[in-house]
Amino acid sequence: MAMDLPLKRFQIKALSHQDAQQTLKHDVLEGMLCAPRSLPPKYFYDEAGSRLFDAICKTRHYYLTRTESALLKRHADEIIAAARPRTCVELGAGTSVKTEILLSGLAAGSRPFTYVPIDVCEEMLIESAARLLYHYPRLRIEALAGEYLSALHALPRLDGPVLFVFIGSSIGNFTEAEAMELLAGVSGIMGPEDAFLLGLDRVKDRKILEQAYDDDEGITAQFNLNVLQVLNTRLGGNFRLENFSHRAVYQEAREQIEMYLVARQAQQVTLADLGETLDIAAGETILTEISRKYTRASIRHLLEGSALSEDMHFAPGDEHFSLVLARKR
Ligand code: AVI
Repeated sequence: MAMDLPLKRFQIKALSHQDAQQTLKHDVLEGMLCAPRSLPPKYFYDEAGSRLFDAICKTRHYYLTRTESALLKRHADEIIAAARPRTCVELGAGTSVKTEILLSGLAAGSRPFTYVPIDVCEEMLIESAARLLYHYPRLRIEALAGEYLSALHALPRLDGPVLFVFIGSSIGNFTEAEAMELLAGVSGIMGPEDAFLLGLDRVKDRKILEQAYDDDEGITAQFNLNVLQVLNTRLGGNFRLENFSHRAVYQEAREQIEMYLVARQAQQVTLADLGETLDIAAGETILTEISRKYTRASIRHLLEGSALSEDMHFAPGDEHFSLVLARKR
């Protein structure tokens, strides 16, 4: 359904596209001209990739979204009572569907409430804002389209207490060092009254994990392959998607899923805007994503390394997922 945006209650700031293109060029030169090849997972999320990710969340095997939504529904009142936010800043907001479980209680109240969604996909931010503003007449939205760290520096003045939200296990897509840098970036701007809600996926049986990242409808495979289409569009590439296949492996020692694109045959690929031609051997892999899985101990370690401490911890009986409310230490 197409909805008009009530412009008095909506602002969006796009963080410079020119920088984004330079960063893409730099990332692709750094990751694709060496062995083993890799690409940062943030490039999955053009409009098509964001929609494919949305479809992954509805597949039978991707338990993460359902489990986290159930936890949010069960504990929303406790989270809101503890955080008492006037503003909610969300990293990686996507469709904001899960966050709406929290927002519905907040934005329906008599006090004005501001939501600051941050996402790389501008189209998705606009579409979600139209839906939320239509449903919650007192809600204001100040969206930021761009990468997390630059967006944190570009935040508008915020009415406190602020609830920072980073759910969906997105923290898992960062290495430990990157995750600590990002969380420390958030704790650095938090005040003593503010809270930080994090959703983290947990270590579990290999079969459950590998099926979640290789669903039987093939949507995760399409999502993975779409990153090559992104390079074709944005860097004048000529990747043939049918020449690659999707692979997801759980690396137990590293406690992470690793997603690869595997070349089905030897091939040459040109990226015209970089003036580069890649010689890719049959069977060669491109690492496109890590998705780290946590234990209660590694969650505490991550928080401690980011100047945060655990205030509340919510998990289902099978401990398959964790929602953590953290404070600045
Ligand atoms: C966005 N992120 C938390 C997802 C994950 O589970 O790591 C991305 C994803 N990749 C494959 N399926 C979903």
